[in-house]
Formats: sequence, C-alpha cells, structure tokens
Amino acid sequence: MKKNIFVALDFSNFEKALDIANSVKNDAAGLKITNELFAICGKEGLKKLSDFGLEIFLDLKILDIPNTVKKTVASIASLKTVKYLTVHTSGDSDMLKAAKESSGQLELLGVTVLTSQLSSKDKVKTLTDLAIKSGLSGVIASAQEYDLVRLMSKDLKIFCPGIRGAYDKKDDQKRVKSYSEFCKISKSDAKAFCVIGRPIYENGDAGQNIKKIIQSAD
Ligand code: C5P
Repeated sequence: MKKNIFVALDFSNFEKALDIANSVKNDAAGLKITNELFAICGKEGLKKLSDFGLEIFLDLKILDIPNTVKKTVASIASLKTVKYLTVHTSGDSDMLKAAKESSGQLELLGVTVLTSQLSSKDKVKTLTDLAIKSGLSGVIASAQEYDLVRLMSKDLKIFCPGIRGAYDKKDDQKRVKSYSEFCKISKSDAKAFCVIGRPIYENGDAGQNIKKIIQSAD
C-alpha cells in the first residue's frame, strides 16, 4: 500500500521534531509543520527535516488580504524545500488567486472547515468549489467528507486530519474517523492522504505508534 500518512509535528522542540522524523521516516509519506515549530526552526530547520527524504507540508493556514498573501506565498515558494502550503479557502477567490499567482512549484492546499468544528457538508462543498475554481492542488477536509470532495473532482488532492481510533482521546477534534475507516473509504486513491499528530507523538514511541496505526488497516 502507498504511504499516506503525514505526521503533524505540533510542538516547538526542534530536537524532538528531528527525533520523531527519524522514527517515522520509513512509514510516513511526509511531515506537517505548523507555525509553532516553523517559528522556532525557520528555513534551516525545514531543510534539515527535508533531509529525511519525506515531503514537507508547511501548514501556515494563510488568511489575509490578497497582496499580503501573494508576497507570503512567494517567500515560502522561494525556500524550495516545501511541497505543500495551506491557505484558508474562507479568504475567498481574490485571495486564493493571488496565492496561486506566486506559488510557482509549491502546491497550495485549501483549508475548508477545521476538523475541530462541527460543519455542514454544504459548507465544505462551497469552499471546495472555491478551491477548484481558484486552481489549488488540493483541500483539507475531514474523512467524513472524502466522498463528497472526490465526487467534485478526481484530480484534487485530499488531506484528512481528525484521525482517531475508537479508543483514542478525541482531544479537540470533532469530525473524526479512524485510520482504517479512512483507508477503506479512500481505497487506493493515490491523491488521498491523512494527517495524524498526537496519536503518534504524544505517548510512547512514535515509530511503534505509526506502525500500529498502519497495521490497524490490514
Ligand atoms: O494531533 P492531531 O492528530 O489532532 O493533529 C491534527 C493536525 O491537523 C494539527 O496539526 C492541525 O493543525 C491540523 N488540521 C486539523 N484540521 C484541519 C486542518 C489542519 O486538525 N482542518
């Protein structure tokens, strides 16, 4: 089976990030870095993380006026180490088009509705439509909306956070599915990925945790 997990490194300890990247490097598809870690490690840190051979997903969830967004995206695109960057689809089409104009090789992913919020499928549909019309590479949606998004476009990449096993703590996530359910729904879709953070890095050994999660789908 193709590797489909992006590991969320949601903490500010760069040594810990390197340690976890090393533990998951054979099983993960990529690493997801948010503002918290990026603020500490900067572009040199991203370079070190990319040396593990995993794809780098910088989750800055950009939302601002078009001019500011265009310049921010250009600045991230110049780093070359980043493959995916998130922008909020709620910024609307002028903002998304401005982001696209300066993205170069960078693939833009549109955040629809956060998986920590309850949402209607209609809202996710409207925001996904905006992402498609603005030429984004993919969207972030919960696995509960995978079918809906895939019906709208066969080309869009779909990234699903909010992955929790039946016995896991849900933390702040509301629209959840387990990894095995995600794999069942997305089957061998090469353009579907999931994002998992705390269930991998919070307790015990990250390398063992990701292996157990992958085995749960067998
Ligand atoms: O620890 P957990 O598995 O809940 O981490 C999920 C990750 O996915 C976090 O880094 C969070 O910022 C991100 N995310 C999310 N919901 C979205 C978009 C991103 O949970 N809609």
